[in-house]
Amino acid sequence: MALLPRPPEPSRVSRLLNKRLIRTAIAVLSFILTVYLVLASRDGGVAVVLPLLGYRETPEAYHFSTTSSFQPVSINPTGKTKEELCATFPKHLLNYVQPVLKMGHSEGRAKIEAQLDSVLACFGKDDLLIMSDLDDTIREHKIVDALADLPQSYYNLRKNRDFKNYMWQRQMRDNGTLHSEDPTATKPIDGWVIDKYKFLPMVERAWITKPDKPFYFFLEADTYVFWDNVFRFLQTFDPDVPVYMGSPSPGQYDKTRDIKTWFANGGPGFVLSRGAIKALLHRESGSNGQYIEPPIAEKWLSLVSEECCGDSVVGWALWNANVELQGYWPMFNPHPLHGIPFSDLYWCQPVLTLHKTTPKDMVELWRWEFGQRTLHRPLLYSDLWHFRHPGELGVLENWDNGDWDSWIPPSEAKVDSFKSCEQFCRKEDRCVQWNWRGGNDKTCILMQSIRYGQAREREMIPEKRGAKPEEILAGEKPKGKWVDYNSGWVGERINK
Ligand SMILES: *[C@@H]1O[C@H](CO)[C@@H](O)[C@H](O)[C@H]1NC(C)=O
Repeated sequence: MALLPRPPEPSRVSRLLNKRLIRTAIAVLSFILTVYLVLASRDGGVAVVLPLLGYRETPEAYHFSTTSSFQPVSINPTGKTKEELCATFPKHLLNYVQPVLKMGHSEGRAKIEAQLDSVLACFGKDDLLIMSDLDDTIREHKIVDALADLPQSYYNLRKNRDFKNYMWQRQMRDNGTLHSEDPTATKPIDGWVIDKYKFLPMVERAWITKPDKPFYFFLEADTYVFWDNVFRFLQTFDPDVPVYMGSPSPGQYDKTRDIKTWFANGGPGFVLSRGAIKALLHRESGSNGQYIEPPIAEKWLSLVSEECCGDSVVGWALWNANVELQGYWPMFNPHPLHGIPFSDLYWCQPVLTLHKTTPKDMVELWRWEFGQRTLHRPLLYSDLWHFRHPGELGVLENWDNGDWDSWIPPSEAKVDSFKSCEQFCRKEDRCVQWNWRGGNDKTCILMQSIRYGQAREREMIPEKRGAKPEEILAGEKPKGKWVDYNSGWVGERINK
């Protein structure tokens, strides 16, 4: 009997190596597959992009069709009154999407007025919920103090020092000094620090006041919302599935599961479905039927007092209720209208929201929108381009077109003026605009996305981080540098 030669036995090490390689390959492939399935299962329109990590990924295509419910879909807004425009608004869809505005008593009145004249203009007093840190009435709207019924634990100022701002505000209103002409009277109240306490009570209160709505849309005083696109988009989701969507920001790190979590930035607005709110508000009960968990506002109080902002607490509370963020960027947009960084990442995407848009722009954009809607496709960023073009004028002094998707020339290039900054930009194909920060700064910023920007006068940038320019100017010797802002655009490349 002839002995068959045996195949060479792989060494133990290389066998292990092979196994590990195979395992790694399987892990990588299943990760890619999972990501693909997650993206595909949402019927497109997905833009899970991690902009803060400098990670550029082209958003997925939006490949399902939606229709507008405005009637008529489009009208010429010129000369029309607010009532005439609002007559076209599909009010019945407010049974499907409940708008909830979060504001603060100390917030600029111009912002609120502009919001009520634009994004919220078509909502009556029963359509809209407004949550604040003091009860009040603005126009016909009742403003709810979302913090009024919080548990006693919130008033323990040793644990929870910020909350005194809220208490002072109430006391001052009660003793008549809150609206006093003397600006120093209201100075100790820091509205920003109270803000984070409002988020969880706001969600709970919205649910109690307007229970069982399919979706809740939470926005702020400077959130611009394209309602037609929001209605179109949300109608493609099942409200009984937990849905939490918005503009993704990096949140808490989940140590037990070794996962970095994400939350929806509050400024561009966020959405919770009925299923998500039910999961969030759910409290475990024991065998005797008694709750064994506190209500959410109490459950997360210590986290709220440590965290900078309430939106991240909402994200973490939802994560702990097994509701994960669906990040839809750039549909939910953290940029203002004048700061949209137009590029291939934006151009063909529907626009759902904008943040920090100026009061004047909010009202103008809102009127313009009435003439732009089309039945079979949502409004896109490329449509917004027609509302206002960046770069039409070529160059502008005392103008800041920003610092986004940007880089600077190497020091050996010796770029030391507006002119040489321009020349450097024109030499690099991807450069569509430049920003020369003159004065003591002398920085040339080159950009590959196109932004309109805004007027910006010469100013003192303080050396000390966080100090306000006026604090420095009031001091004897200014510590910092003078900067002037000058912007330019490469017209031919933008047109192309
Ligand atoms: C009103 O209340 C505030 C906050 O508690 C207090 O600082 C202030 O002295 C009060 N003013 C008057 C006139 O009572």
